[in-house]
Amino acid sequence: MSELLNDIRIAPSILSADFARLGDQVDQVIAAGARVIHVDVMDGQFVPPITMGPIIVQALSERVKAAGAILDVHLMINNPENQIEAFANAGADTIVVHAEATTHLHRTLNAIREAGVLAGAAICPGTAVESLVDVSEVLDLALVMSVNPGWGGQSFIEASVGRIERLSALLGPGIPIEVDGGIDASTAPLVVGAGAKLLVAGSAVFGKPDPELAYSAIAEAAGAV
Ligand code: DX5
Ligand code: ZN
Repeated sequence: MSELLNDIRIAPSILSADFARLGDQVDQVIAAGARVIHVDVMDGQFVPPITMGPIIVQALSERVKAAGAILDVHLMINNPENQIEAFANAGADTIVVHAEATTHLHRTLNAIREAGVLAGAAICPGTAVESLVDVSEVLDLALVMSVNPGWGGQSFIEASVGRIERLSALLGPGIPIEVDGGIDASTAPLVVGAGAKLLVAGSAVFGKPDPELAYSAIAEAAGAV
């Protein structure tokens, strides 16, 4: 496991970044202390929007790794098992697939590890947290969605706090819990208190006039490194 996942961290999601100056925006949050950069891949099938693919991961890979940071790739796509090689080759450090989007989750997680990448599984707000227990032997990261996936800027679903608590108790301390959706300086302490380690924040960072300042405010509220 990347030692970066041992601490409480904020992972800025580039979904809310200005894509005309993406490199600069990533440099800004890295300068503020970010060491995990979250990439939201959407296929227009599993979720309605189409966003980005391996070429964006590849475009960012060198600068992110040069800063000692990692690329956390969240695949909101159907049949993600078909894209593991492409994202691994592009420089993904984690590949997080949705439990709802792959028929053979256990096999898919194994394939991610075999590609030399950390294997993550995500669950939507309507999916039972218990569904991740039986894949825990092949799981490096468990992502609890705190909004329904598809768009940035949605409101945090309060029931996520209890879901994180339950999953944290079920998985134990060995598998970090990531939370994604509606995270800002007010919701960050709630999810950290419930046991989340990696907090994705998109609009609360890149949607603000000063992303560095916004990042720092959330990191401070979360007690992140
Ligand atoms: C939503 C994506 C998120 C998104 C979060 O489906 O998975 O990563 O960027 O955006 P905010 O932080 O604005 O809720
Ligand atoms: Zn995401």
